[in-house]
Amino acid sequence: MRYLSLQPIPVPVSKIALGSTYFGTTIPEKTVMAMLDAFATANGTVLDTARVYGQEYAGGPSPSELVIGKWLSETGMRNRMVLATKGMHPSGDGKSRFTYRDLMHDIEMSQQSLGSETFDIWFLHRDDPQVPVDEIMGMMAPLVQSGIIRILGASNWTTSRIEAANTYAKTHGLPTFATSEIQWSLASSTPESWNDPSLVCMDSNSLAWYRKKQMPIFAFSSQSKGFFSKAIAHGLAGLNEKSRSRFLNPDNEAKIERVRTISENTGLSPAAIATGYITNEHPSSVAIVGCSSVGQLEDTLTGADVLLSPSQLDYLSGQR
Ligand SMILES: NC(=O)c1ccc[n+]([C@@H]2O[C@H](COP(=O)([O-])OP(=O)(O)OC[C@H]3O[C@@H](n4cnc5c(N)ncnc54)[C@H](OP(=O)(O)O)[C@@H]3O)[C@@H](O)[C@H]2O)c1
Repeated sequence: MRYLSLQPIPVPVSKIALGSTYFGTTIPEKTVMAMLDAFATANGTVLDTARVYGQEYAGGPSPSELVIGKWLSETGMRNRMVLATKGMHPSGDGKSRFTYRDLMHDIEMSQQSLGSETFDIWFLHRDDPQVPVDEIMGMMAPLVQSGIIRILGASNWTTSRIEAANTYAKTHGLPTFATSEIQWSLASSTPESWNDPSLVCMDSNSLAWYRKKQMPIFAFSSQSKGFFSKAIAHGLAGLNEKSRSRFLNPDNEAKIERVRTISENTGLSPAAIATGYITNEHPSSVAIVGCSSVGQLEDTLTGADVLLSPSQLDYLSGQR
C-alpha cells in the first residue's frame, strides 16, 4: 500500500480508500464486516462514508456510518484508520441545507453513528454557489479550530469556488479546504451523464489546477462502476446500468483496448490498472473504491502498490 501524509491526521493516508455508499443496505452487514477486515489486513487506512449513504428518511441515521461505527468499536481500530465523512447534502427535493443548524445536526449524527468525537476529514458533500464563501468558511472554522474536524474538504466543488473560499480563509486567518473529493476515473464522465448538475467531474483544466496547488484529491467512482473490469471480462453486454449510462462513449470504449493491452503485458487486473491510473496520475491522489464483495475488493487491492510509468499513463489516457 502507498500512503500520503496529511497533517494533522495522525496516521498515514492510504492511496486507496474504501467507499461505502451501499454499506448496511444492499451490501449486508456480514459482508461489510468482512470487507472492512480485508481492507485493514491489506493495510488500507481510509474509510469514506457520508451522512446520506443509505438514509431511509431525511435527517435520519446513515446505515453506512452505523455499520462502520460498529466495526470500529468491535475491532478497536479507530486510532488506526482515517475516518472521512460528509454532511450538509441537499435534502431529497434538492433544497439547500447550508445552515448552522443543519451543519450541527449532521456533525452530531455522524459522531453518534460512527462512535467518534472527531473526523479526520469532513467534507461538505456538495456546494451551494448561492451562499457566499465567507459565510461558509466562517461557519466551518470553529469545528476545525476545536479539533472536531482535523482536515476540511470540499466535495463536488469547482476549482474556482475552492480557490475563492481558500483565498478568503487565508486572508482572514481561517482554516482552508485542504482536500477535494470529485468524480475522477480513467473513463471520463460528465455531470450530464449522471443526470446530476451538482456533481463535479475531473477535466484537464481542473487537473492542472490541482497539480499547481498541490492539493490532494479524493477520486470517487474511481473504477467507473467496474467499467474496465466488466467490459474486459464479459464484453460491453456485461456492463451494469450505471457504468453504461455514465461511462460508455467512443472515447472510453477506445480505452478498454488500452487497459486490455497493459493487462496482458503486465499481468495486472483491469481493476488494478484503473485504480493505479488515479493513484499515479497526481502525486497526492487517493482512489476511493466501491466494491460489492470481498472478492472484488481483493482484486481491486492488487492495485495498491502499482507504479505506472509516465508513458503508460499517457497511453491509457489516449495521449500517445
Ligand atoms: N462525494 C461524492 O459525491 C461521492 C459520489 C459517489 C461515490 N462516492 C464515494 O466513492 C465510492 C466509490 O464510488 P462508486 O461505488 O460509485 O464507484 P466505483 O468504485 O467506480 O465502482 C463500484 C462498482 O464497480 C464494480 N467493481 C468494483 N470492483 C470490481 C472488480 N474488481 N471487478 C469487477 N467489478 C468491480 C462493482 O459493480 P457491481 O456491484 O455491479 O458488481 C462496484 O459496485 C463510494 O462508495 C463513495 O464512498 C462519493
